[in-house]
Amino acid sequence: MNSVASISNTVAKHHLEVRGSNFLSGQIKISGAKNSALVLMAATLLTEEALFLKNIPSLTDINVMSELLSSIGVRIERKSNEISLTARDLLQSELPYKLVHALRASFVCAGPLLARIGEVSIPLPGGCRIGNRPIEEHIRGLEALGASVSIEKGVVKAKLPKNKKKLKGAHIKFNCQSVGATETILMAATLAEGRTVLENSAQEPEIQDLANMLNSMGAQIRGAGTKEIIIEGVEKLNGCNHTVIPDRIEAGTFLIAAAITRSSISLTPVIPEHLEAVFKKLRECGCLINTMGDSVKITPNEITAVDVTTSPYPGFPTDLQAPFMALMTTAKGTSKITETVFEKRMQHVSELNRMGSSIKLLGNTALITGVPQLTGTSLSAGDLRASAAMVLASLSAKGVSKIIGLDYLDRGYERMEDKLKKVGADISREKITISANKNSKEGFKPLTPQSIQQEVA
Ligand code: UD1
Repeated sequence: MNSVASISNTVAKHHLEVRGSNFLSGQIKISGAKNSALVLMAATLLTEEALFLKNIPSLTDINVMSELLSSIGVRIERKSNEISLTARDLLQSELPYKLVHALRASFVCAGPLLARIGEVSIPLPGGCRIGNRPIEEHIRGLEALGASVSIEKGVVKAKLPKNKKKLKGAHIKFNCQSVGATETILMAATLAEGRTVLENSAQEPEIQDLANMLNSMGAQIRGAGTKEIIIEGVEKLNGCNHTVIPDRIEAGTFLIAAAITRSSISLTPVIPEHLEAVFKKLRECGCLINTMGDSVKITPNEITAVDVTTSPYPGFPTDLQAPFMALMTTAKGTSKITETVFEKRMQHVSELNRMGSSIKLLGNTALITGVPQLTGTSLSAGDLRASAAMVLASLSAKGVSKIIGLDYLDRGYERMEDKLKKVGADISREKITISANKNSKEGFKPLTPQSIQQEVA
């Protein structure tokens, strides 16, 4: 029984089964923003007092961030969508590879840890499926604040110079608008000595949310949400209560779900100004968008092709490029979608074409000619937002789709199928048991997306 050939590689996985072509109606509740929640949790490292966060979405990425913070001594209590974090006694400044590798966003812990305890050791997060995702801007920023940074065997080690107890405020001009670098350096600068000016900062709403919370903790930050952020360093930060903003990407995804099924639904809560670029494109392609307070209602008419180019906020978000492309496969005419933020974010194209869409890819530009009807099939999602695009395309397709790769979906969407089911989608999560090797003579065969797909099909 010990031979390699008899190793059983049986795994319980899930897939989503979607019967397309249903109309949707009703209201969907939008969860707290994943990208805000992750960085707000990391900000606990800046204070020894307790931080209480409300509207935390239930996502695997949040679980990983909790595990990462716990591993270095943060006490965490979680109840439903609320979480309390206390970083009174930090045990170590070394973040474990396994968890950093599982969550790229964990690199934002580097800034606060360095500012609070004077050193940090964090593995390079590496590339990911949507692109190379370098971090030289984070490192350059930390160096500008006075840290000495080295990279040894794939681990970034940053510490304060000898005889220094604090980082020192600086004027930093980012070479590119990076959400993660802006957040990392913003947090580090709150406890630095003197003034820090960040030029060419990213302007995403999640950065405004972070700055608002840091100011409630006693920081002095102006200009978050613009390209220039000014931070006056303070001695220490306090704990606070904070509610995470609604997830604009989740909201955008459900607006597109309505458009692709030609259905009218409403969403709440949303912050309409965070969705302006998305509203603009949805209006241009034939949808009525009405906002009232923190709700939005979408009513699609005939959907016609529109061109989209992704760019940093306030431009059209790269995180909605794949879902919007799914919509364009059903539009009248030919649209052009250009991805400018990440270099490998077109993996959904081949899967959409397997459903009968007509997409031609020229580098990072896709030419999409709308077809009358997509056809359901077995689909594999290669990254978080591509998996959302698969769900949306399946909702509009004729027949049954089976989508694997839900680990991605669950990183960023809270119970997506439950929310869609509530507004009338025919969608369910089914368990599949996959045996990659049944005493095969060829020996152990690892699971691959293809082998899983064969089992699901
Ligand atoms: C964040 C979001 C992600 C979103 C992305 C862009 C989180 C947890 N994730 O990711 O959902 O898709 O913003 O809106 O908030 N870059 C460099 N050098 C650097 C840093 C970044 O060249 O040092 C480049 C990247 O390769 C990319 C672009 O800048 O092309 C934007 O990346 P960045 O804003 O840093 O993305 P993340 O913060 O990782």
